[in-house]
Amino acid sequence: MSLKPSQATELSPMNDGTDVNPSSNTHIDDIIAVRMSRRGVLKGGIAATTAAVFGSLSMTACGGDDDNDAKPLALNFDAVAKNKLDMVTVPTGYQVSVLHALGDPLTATDAVWANDGSETPASYNNRIGCGHDGMHYFGLSDNGSFQANRSDKGVLCVNHEYVVSPYGLHPNGRTAGATRLASEVEKEINAHGVSVCEVTRAASGTAMSMTRGSRFNRRITSATPMAFSGPMKGNTLARTKYSPDGTTTRGTNNNCGNGYTPWGTYLTCEENFTNVISRAAGDDAKRSAKEITGLKRYNLAENKKSSYLWDTAGTDDLFARWSASVTGASAAEDYRNIFNTFGWIVEIDPFDPTSTPLKHSALGRFAHEGCWPCNAVAGKPIVFYMGDDSRNEYIFKFVSKALWDSADVGKGHTAGLKYMSEGTLYVARFNADGSGQWIELTHGKNGLDASNATYAFADQADVVTHARLAGDAVGATKMDRPEWGAVHPTNGEIYMTLTNNSYRVAPTATPTGSQLKPDTANPRYYEDIKDGSTSQKGNPNGHIIRWREAGSDPAATTFTWDIYLFGAEAGAAADVNLSGLTDVNDFSSPDGLWFDKNGMLWIQTDDGAYTDVTNCMMLAAVPGKVGDGTAVVAAGGTPTLKGANATNATVRRFLVGPKDCEVTGIAMTPDRKTMFVNIQHPGEDGSLSAPTSTWPAGQSGARPRSATVVITRSNGGEIAV
Ligand code: FEO
Ligand code: CA
Ligand code: CA
Repeated sequence: MSLKPSQATELSPMNDGTDVNPSSNTHIDDIIAVRMSRRGVLKGGIAATTAAVFGSLSMTACGGDDDNDAKPLALNFDAVAKNKLDMVTVPTGYQVSVLHALGDPLTATDAVWANDGSETPASYNNRIGCGHDGMHYFGLSDNGSFQANRSDKGVLCVNHEYVVSPYGLHPNGRTAGATRLASEVEKEINAHGVSVCEVTRAASGTAMSMTRGSRFNRRITSATPMAFSGPMKGNTLARTKYSPDGTTTRGTNNNCGNGYTPWGTYLTCEENFTNVISRAAGDDAKRSAKEITGLKRYNLAENKKSSYLWDTAGTDDLFARWSASVTGASAAEDYRNIFNTFGWIVEIDPFDPTSTPLKHSALGRFAHEGCWPCNAVAGKPIVFYMGDDSRNEYIFKFVSKALWDSADVGKGHTAGLKYMSEGTLYVARFNADGSGQWIELTHGKNGLDASNATYAFADQADVVTHARLAGDAVGATKMDRPEWGAVHPTNGEIYMTLTNNSYRVAPTATPTGSQLKPDTANPRYYEDIKDGSTSQKGNPNGHIIRWREAGSDPAATTFTWDIYLFGAEAGAAADVNLSGLTDVNDFSSPDGLWFDKNGMLWIQTDDGAYTDVTNCMMLAAVPGKVGDGTAVVAAGGTPTLKGANATNATVRRFLVGPKDCEVTGIAMTPDRKTMFVNIQHPGEDGSLSAPTSTWPAGQSGARPRSATVVITRSNGGEIAV
């Protein structure tokens, strides 16, 4: 979801960037200082410092293997101009249609969207949810199984991240008051989660439409039964009134970015789950000091009322369970542990509509943006890369214990349990010299045991449930809000968006509270250009970091990194616009990120800094590789290493979304002829009485709705090439 300037505070009810990281991990500038003084170049000034820091990186990174790089790719479309139109703008020669939008029925029998909020709560078990976000396309064979290379028939899984207030769901928007209406809450619970629907191509052309009534069509909501896998399965931390033995739970929430598996299942990622849980005043007195530490590190202090207030809608279990307050004699008699049941990677088998989704706890609990697999290689582990999207949080990876066997393709949750219930979780440390380490988060290693002074880790379930505290303990690097990641399909390098961070302060400042000075991996401090809007300080435009694992082995414990691209307004100062963006490719706040099979990188934005000039957008890019750029000094004076400058040939704007939207979520058929893109919360800044958008209907009085659009080329050809 978007983080507008006015929302960039901890008071925001829908804040992706809430910061609760109080740890005092070593700042990487301190590491620079140590290394500099060791090398005796500290007095050499910034230019000398920069060269010294990155000289070795450039050499080693450029010396990597070239033989498995992508074939030459070329962007072949006219760049779309920045604009503030209330429509999806695509290049000449392309066309856009709507696949599905909030409230559309998945069945052939339910009534169509009425545009007045009159749909019943129960009907959302069969309707498209709200806040479209991450998604994935799976080819569907004629016998109903996963067929990776099929383009004319498939199953599309789409995340529904949150309920966009005040539009859409309710007749008159959310009814005000400290106590919510049960009917509204039930509808909101059912509008979160994931939709699964079959999509098919017409007899001619490359556009696709939803197949209403397909047996694969399904809604997974915040009330759907789920099972735990991994260390949390049966652990005391997972015990609730619903599942006294801690093996199952209900619902998935705030499903933001996504992932997928090589065996053909969907991964949905629980991000801002802290927004749906309340905890009563006085609850601390019923908790241990250790429990309170864990709750606060995930932003659930006592007397916190969730922004949704779902727990206020009645005593029915459907509602009461959204309060983590201690009310019973034991964890088996209340929902004190409800908070521990969210913040996970959830696996859905789209080919088995009756399957129970799995919460794979071995991959850790945090504000999961997404979960992106490495390129699967027979006999090697499957590695998943993940970001924790809050200010100053961490980047993680999970390395499976099981080794990849392509015979597992199509085996659904059987394969999921094989590869995702056992393995090793790591957190990233980005060093100032362009190297990096993956630090293992295993109980009994690296100080993660009961002797830890901040948090006494009892077992591996405790480590994964409190992965942020584990990251603090081992000195992980605090990042500028890690959003999506993507793995290059041929050279295996990993890219991750760092969307922005208003908590970076000048290198000369004395940080207070959660503020941080810039570091080499999060290097910029500046003030946004004032285009008539309120300017922002820190790193308002974000950047995209990338790394190459040692030996190009995804399971390696060291890597080299650089910053692929810096978001900036084209007119910004050179030390802000470090990638040399121009009118054809300038952007702000990168969020969604996805490689297509040819190695073209797609970048989507969720911005509040450049929206005075343009709506959010999507760009296509042909990236080079780690080490293809130069050492520079970023605005504010911090040295860093950037990738090669962007040009019209390497980064180009492909799409601009409608008013007040976020462009997030992308998928493509294997033949690259049908693209799916999600438009989330058009008209977010308006109200029912004063709407700012009528997209997608485009008619007076139409409520704006999150939607999936289908983009095809008028000539039926491959997209963007
Ligand atoms: Fe839901 Fe971090 O975006
Ligand atoms: Ca996002
Ligand atoms: Ca601006």
